[in-house]
Amino acid sequence: MRIAVTGSIATDHLMRFPGRFAEQLLADQLERVSLSFLVDDLVIRRGGAAANICYGLGRLGLRPVLVGAVGEDFVDYRSWLDRNGVDTGSVHVSELAHTARFVCTTDNDLCQIASFYPGAMSDARLIELRPIVDRLGGLDLVVISPNDPQAMLRHTEECRERSIPFAADPSQQLARMDGPEIRRLVDGAAWLLCNAYEKGLLESKTGWSDAQVLERVGVRITTHGADGVAIEATGAEPILVPVVPARVTPDPTGVGDAFRAGFFAGRAWGLTLRRSAQIGCLLATLALETIGTQEYETAPDELAKRLSETYGADAAAEITPHLPVD
Ligand SMILES: Nc1ncnc2c1ncn2[C@@H]1O[C@H](COP(=O)(O)OP(=O)(O)OP(=O)(O)O)[C@@H](O)[C@H]1O
Ligand SMILES: [Mg+2]
Repeated sequence: MRIAVTGSIATDHLMRFPGRFAEQLLADQLERVSLSFLVDDLVIRRGGAAANICYGLGRLGLRPVLVGAVGEDFVDYRSWLDRNGVDTGSVHVSELAHTARFVCTTDNDLCQIASFYPGAMSDARLIELRPIVDRLGGLDLVVISPNDPQAMLRHTEECRERSIPFAADPSQQLARMDGPEIRRLVDGAAWLLCNAYEKGLLESKTGWSDAQVLERVGVRITTHGADGVAIEATGAEPILVPVVPARVTPDPTGVGDAFRAGFFAGRAWGLTLRRSAQIGCLLATLALETIGTQEYETAPDELAKRLSETYGADAAAEITPHLPVD
């Protein structure tokens, strides 16, 4: 199954200020504020929804095609993704802008001062899927993850025109887009993925009821955090899949993306919806247990053990033969 994942590609630059911002901000001089914080730690993390999903798919032995826009500073990040099984041959490199970057400083009170620079991400709207379809000899699924809103709309229209099955994964961009735009992202999607809050927001912005949304998509997947995942399709009994219990939870970022990677890997292997959601939940828990969104390990023995502990030996026996040998 040839899967292309479109969406954001970004890095997070996270710093720690060993003091309190509140003590540096002088209430009577805020209009002239000019501060530089001497920080004692810098961590650079690879992220962006499309890159996170591709990382998970790549680790599971699929060869996803990453589709998004970056700057010329993408060199190291590209090698990392290449090493993890991602096809980066269709990433658009902007000549002018840098790769999207989130820069955040956190103080001892966990207060944060941050900026998000979208940069090259706005160029994603220039990307056409046709050359990618030609290069790969076809695409079986295009995942449309959070990105420049114009790019999300363009990729969706192109999938519809070319009859390529697509997954609508609007996530945080639901906040930015209006009802008519969201309708265009969702209508005719083979898959719709949201968390529980986004499901409500989507219904309120589109004006479509729960049933009306379901009529317009093939399968709807709603993640409920620690309460697991619901899978629904018109005329079928809903499927509920519990989570894989997490041993530690140092960093929740990227759980949704990891779930998507595991789920679509399961589908690519020809597994049922339930089994696919189980491998999705396992990857999500691995992401939850690790700091960073592309740092979790996927040792086959460990995956088999965790699957068997949560979902039983049958689940492990069906899923593990598909895992790549380490
Ligand atoms: N506390 C938890 N324990 C175990 N698994 C969890 C937990 N929280 C989330 N997950 C897993 O991650 C999946 C996605 O979680 P959630 O519904 O919170 O997504 P999200 O809000 O889109 O996340 P993100 O912050 O990545 O956007 C869940 O369906 C579940 O499998
Ligand atoms: Mg999410």
